Amino acid sequence: MLHSGFNFLLCVVAILCINLLCVESFYPSKCVETERQALLKFKDALIHSKVNLTSWKGEECCKWEGISCHNLTGYVTSLNLKPFDYTKAVGGKLDYSICELQHLISLNLDNIGLEGKIPKCIGSLGKLIELKLMYNNFFGVIPPSLGNLSNLQTLDLSHNYLTANDLEWLSHLSDLRYLDLSEVNLTLAIDWLSSISKIHTLSELHLFGCGLHQVTPKSISYMNTSISLKSLDLGENSLNSSILPWVSNVGKVLITLDLSFNQFKGSKPLFEITKLASLQHLDLSHNELSGSFPHTIGQLSYLQELFLSSNKFNSVIIETHLSNLSHLRILDVAHNSLSFNLSLDSVPPFKLFALYASSCTLGPKFPVWLKHHGELRVLDISSSGISDSFPKWFWNLSSSLIYLNVSYNKLNGPLPKSIPNMKFSILENVWDFSFNNLNGSLPPFPKFYALFLSSNMFTESLSSFCTSSSLGLTYLDLSSNLLKGQLSNCWKKFEMLQVLNLAQNQLSGKIPSFFGSLRHLESLHLNNNNFSGEIPPLTLCSSLTLIDVGDNNLQGILPMWIGSHLHRLIVLRLRVNKFQGNIPTSMCNLSFLQVLDLSENNITGKIPQCLGDIIALSNLNSPRKSFHYISYGFGYMDGKVYDVGSFNDKEILALKGSNREYGKNLGLMATIDLSSNHLTGEIPQSITKLVVLVGLNLSRNNLTGFIPSNIGHMESLESLDLSRNHLYGKMPTSFSSLTFLGYMNLSFNNLEGKIPLSTQLQTFDPSSYVGNSRLCGPPLINLFPDDVISPTSSNDKHVTSEEEDKLITFGFYVSLVIGFFVGFWGVCGTLVIKTSWRHAYFKFFNNLNDWIHVTLSVFVNRLKKRFQVED
Ligand SMILES: *[C@@H]1O[C@H](CO)[C@@H](O)[C@H](O)[C@H]1NC(C)=O
Ligand SMILES: *[C@@H]1O[C@H](CO)[C@@H](O)[C@H](O)[C@H]1NC(C)=O
Ligand SMILES: *[C@@H]1O[C@H](CO)[C@@H](O)[C@H](O)[C@H]1NC(C)=O
Ligand SMILES: *[C@@H]1O[C@H](CO)[C@@H](O)[C@H](O)[C@H]1NC(C)=O
Ligand SMILES: *[C@@H]1O[C@H](CO)[C@@H](O)[C@H](O)[C@H]1NC(C)=O
Ligand SMILES: *[C@@H]1O[C@H](CO)[C@@H](O)[C@H](O)[C@H]1NC(C)=O
Ligand SMILES: *[C@@H]1O[C@H](CO)[C@@H](O)[C@H](O)[C@H]1NC(C)=O
Ligand SMILES: *[C@@H]1O[C@H](CO)[C@@H](O)[C@H](O)[C@H]1NC(C)=O
Ligand SMILES: *[C@@H]1O[C@H](CO)[C@@H](O)[C@H](O)[C@H]1NC(C)=O
Ligand SMILES: *[C@@H]1O[C@H](CO)[C@@H](O)[C@H](O)[C@H]1NC(C)=O
Repeated sequence: MLHSGFNFLLCVVAILCINLLCVESFYPSKCVETERQALLKFKDALIHSKVNLTSWKGEECCKWEGISCHNLTGYVTSLNLKPFDYTKAVGGKLDYSICELQHLISLNLDNIGLEGKIPKCIGSLGKLIELKLMYNNFFGVIPPSLGNLSNLQTLDLSHNYLTANDLEWLSHLSDLRYLDLSEVNLTLAIDWLSSISKIHTLSELHLFGCGLHQVTPKSISYMNTSISLKSLDLGENSLNSSILPWVSNVGKVLITLDLSFNQFKGSKPLFEITKLASLQHLDLSHNELSGSFPHTIGQLSYLQELFLSSNKFNSVIIETHLSNLSHLRILDVAHNSLSFNLSLDSVPPFKLFALYASSCTLGPKFPVWLKHHGELRVLDISSSGISDSFPKWFWNLSSSLIYLNVSYNKLNGPLPKSIPNMKFSILENVWDFSFNNLNGSLPPFPKFYALFLSSNMFTESLSSFCTSSSLGLTYLDLSSNLLKGQLSNCWKKFEMLQVLNLAQNQLSGKIPSFFGSLRHLESLHLNNNNFSGEIPPLTLCSSLTLIDVGDNNLQGILPMWIGSHLHRLIVLRLRVNKFQGNIPTSMCNLSFLQVLDLSENNITGKIPQCLGDIIALSNLNSPRKSFHYISYGFGYMDGKVYDVGSFNDKEILALKGSNREYGKNLGLMATIDLSSNHLTGEIPQSITKLVVLVGLNLSRNNLTGFIPSNIGHMESLESLDLSRNHLYGKMPTSFSSLTFLGYMNLSFNNLEGKIPLSTQLQTFDPSSYVGNSRLCGPPLINLFPDDVISPTSSNDKHVTSEEEDKLITFGFYVSLVIGFFVGFWGVCGTLVIKTSWRHAYFKFFNNLNDWIHVTLSVFVNRLKKRFQVED
C-alpha cells in the first residue's frame, strides 16, 4: 500500500514535471512588459523603413516576427528583421528604445532602410555578441561607445555613410572575430592599423573602400601583432606595397586575400604575396602590377582562385607557371598584355571552372588546350586575337558553359546545325558571339537567358532559330547581320523577352501583331530593316522604355496609343519612314520621354504646344535611367560573387549633325528631332521650357514665325538646327545664354538683323547663317554700314570647345541592373537599383540565404566602382 502510494506520488510528480516542461516549451515565457513597450516605440520609428511589422501586436511580443526571447526569463535576446519592401524609400529611424532591451545577444537590422545616426546607447547593450547594421543609410560618426560591447564577436557596419575619426575603441573588443567596416570613411582614422592589430581574436576583416590612410614603412616596422586572419579584404583603398609586411604578418594562415583596386605597382608585391603559401583566394585585380607572370606563383599550391585582371603584366603564360596549382578553379588574367603558350598534349594538373582572358592573346588559332578543361562553366576569351573557326570538340565543352564570351575575335565559319543541349538545364545561360565573322544560318539555341549574336554575317531566315530555341530567352541581340525574311508568329512564344534587337538586317513584311502581347518587353529595336505596313498596337507592352523602328517602310498615321499606353517610354525613334498625320498631343503625356525622333516622315500640322510639358525634358531633377545595365555574376565556393560581364542597351542618335552610338549614357540623352517633315505654323514658345534638351532639330519643315525670344532658357542645349524653314525676324538676344551650344544651323530662313554677340555665335561657320539674305554681323561678311565690329569676338573663340559630353554631369543615375548568379545555385532575376547603387537587392531575396544577399551587394558596389557610375 505504502509502496503503491509512493508509486502514485512519483507518478504525479512525473506528470507535473512533464506538464511543466510542456508548458515551458509550448508557451515560451511571456515577454517582459517594459520590453514590449520599448519594442512598440522602436516599431513606431520604423514606419518608413522596408520592414513589415504588422505582426507586432498583442501581448506576446516573443512571438512577434523577428524576435526571440530567453525561454525562461522572457527577455528579448535576438532581434532579426528582414526587409520586406525593397522598393520603398528609406527613412526609418533606429530609436533609442532599442537600448532598453538590455538582454539582447543578437541585433541584426541588415538593409531595412534605416537612416540617421547610430544611437550612442547601443554601447550599453553589454550582452551583444552580434551587431549587424549593414546596408542602411546611417550617417555620422560611429559612436566609440561600441567599444564597451566586450562580448561582441561579429560587428558589421558596412555600406552606410558612416565615418570614424579613430578606431581606438575597436581595440577594446577583445572577443571580436568578424569585422566589416567596408565603406566607412576611415580617412581620418590614422590609427586603423594599430587599433586593428590589437584585436587578437580577429579572424576576418573587411575594410573595402574605406579611404584607408596610407601606411608608411616606418609606422609598419614597429607594429607587432599576433593576429592571424583567415580572410582579409582591403580592396579599393589606394594602398601601396608599404602595407605588405603587415599583410605577410597577419596572413600566415590567411586563406582569402583581397587587395584589388589599390596602388600596388611593379613586380615585387606579387612576389612578396606568393610567400603566403596557404592562400586559397587571391585578388590583386585593378592595380598597376607589371613585369612578367611570376614563376613563384607555384608556391601557392593551395590556390583555388586567382584574380589578376586589369594590371600591366606583360609576358607569356607557360605550362610551368601553372603546373603546381592543382587546386586552381578560377583564373582571371583579363586586361593585361599576357599571352598564353600552353601545350596541347600535356594534361594540366587542374581543371578550371572559370577562365577570364579577355584582351589576352590566345590566337590566332583556337586555343586547343581548353580541351582539357571540361568543367569550365565560365569562359571569357573575348578580344583575344582568335581568327579561326570553332573546332568540333568545342561544342562538347560548350554544353556546360553557363557564360561564354567570344566576342571581338575573327571567328569564322558557320555554327553547328544544332547547339548541343545544355547540361545545366535549370540554369540561365548567357553566350556572346558578337563582333565576329560567323556566317551561315542561325541554329536554334536551347535553354538561354541572353544571346548576343550581333555584328556577324548570319544569313537566311530566323525560322529554325525560332522554332527550336527555348522559351526563356530574355535578351536577344541579332543586330547587324544579313538576316532575311518575315517574322513568323512563332516569335510569340518568347514571352520573357525584355530586350529584342533585330536592327540592321534585311527583315521584311509586317511587324507581327503578337509583339503587342510581349508584356515584359522593355526595349525593341527593329530599325534599319525593310518592315512595311503599320505598327501593330503595342498597348499591352507597358514596360517599354525604348522603341526604335526607324529606317523602314512603315506607314500610317502616327499612333495615338504610344502616348496613351506606353507610360514608361524614354526613347521613341520612328525616323525615316512614311508616317503621316499630326503629332498626337498624347505624346506630351509621356513623362519619361527623353528622345523623340520623328524625322524624315510625312508629318504635317503644327508642333503641339504641350511638348513643353514633357516632364523628363523640362525638369532637370527628374530621375534618369540607365538602359538595361545588365551585369552577370556568379557565386562560387566561398559564396563570393564575381562579375563576368555586362550589357547596356545602345542606340544611335543624331546630334550636332552627326550620328553617334550611345550606350551607358543613353539614359542621359535628351533630344527632339522633327526634321524633314511638313510641319507648319510657328515654333511654340513653350518649347523653351525644355531646359533638359541637349539637341533640337526642326530643320527642313515649313515652319514660320519668329524664333522664340526666350530660347536662351534652354540652358542644356548643345545642338540646334532650325535650317530650311521660313522663320523670320531677328535672332533673339537670349541666344547668348546658350553657353553649351556647340553646333547651330539657322541657314535658309528669312532671318534678319544683327547676329547677337556672344561667346558662341561668332565662332560658328558662316554657313550656319547663309540663306538669310538680311542677316548681318560677324561671322558673316555682309555688314551693315553702321555696324561696329566688336573686338571681343576673337577673345571668346576658345570657349566653344567645351562641347564635350556635358551629359555626364547630370548628377543622378537611376539604374536598372539585371544580374544573374550561376554556379550550383542557379538563381536569376531582376535587380532594380534606386537612387544609389549601394542599396540594390533582388526582389526575391526573401527566399535566398543571407550570404547571397550580402555578396551581391558587395559585387554591385564594386561594379559601380569599376564602371565609375556616379550616384
Ligand atoms: C532553453 O534554452 C536553452 C538554451 O538556450 C536550452 O538548452 C534549453 O533546453 C531550453 N529549455 C527549454 C525548456 O526549451
Ligand atoms: C504585411 O504582412 C502582412 C502579413 O504578415 C500582410 O497581410 C500585409 O499585407 C503586409 N503589408 C504590406 C504593406 O504589404
Ligand atoms: C563604457 O561604459 C562606462 C560605464 O559603464 C562609461 O563610463 C564609458 O564612458 C563607456 N565607454 C565608452 C567608450 O562609451
Ligand atoms: C571622408 O572624410 C574626409 C574627411 O572628413 C573627407 O575629406 C572625404 O571627402 C570623405 N570621403 C568620402 C568619400 O566621403
Ligand atoms: C607608399 O605610400 C607612402 C605614403 O604615401 C609612402 O611614404 C611610401 O613611400 C609608399 N611606398 C611605396 C613602396 O611606394
Ligand atoms: C615585437 O615582437 C618581437 C618578437 O615577438 C619583440 O622582440 C619586439 O620587442 C616587439 N616589438 C614591440 C614594439 O612590441
Ligand atoms: C609546389 O608546391 C609545393 C608545396 O605543395 C612546394 O613545396 C614547391 O616549392 C612548389 N613548387 C614550385 C615550383 O613552386
Ligand atoms: C610556345 O612554346 C614553344 C615551346 O614550348 C615554342 O617553341 C614556341 O615558339 C612558343 N610560341 C610562342 C608564340 O611563344
Ligand atoms: C504624305 O501625306 C499626304 C497626306 O497627308 C499624302 O497625300 C502623300 O502621298 C504622302 N506622301 C508620301 C511620300 O507618302
Ligand atoms: C511647304 O512649303 C513649300 C514651299 O513654300 C510648299 O511648296 C509646300 O507646299 C509647303 N508644304 C506644306 C505642307 O505646307
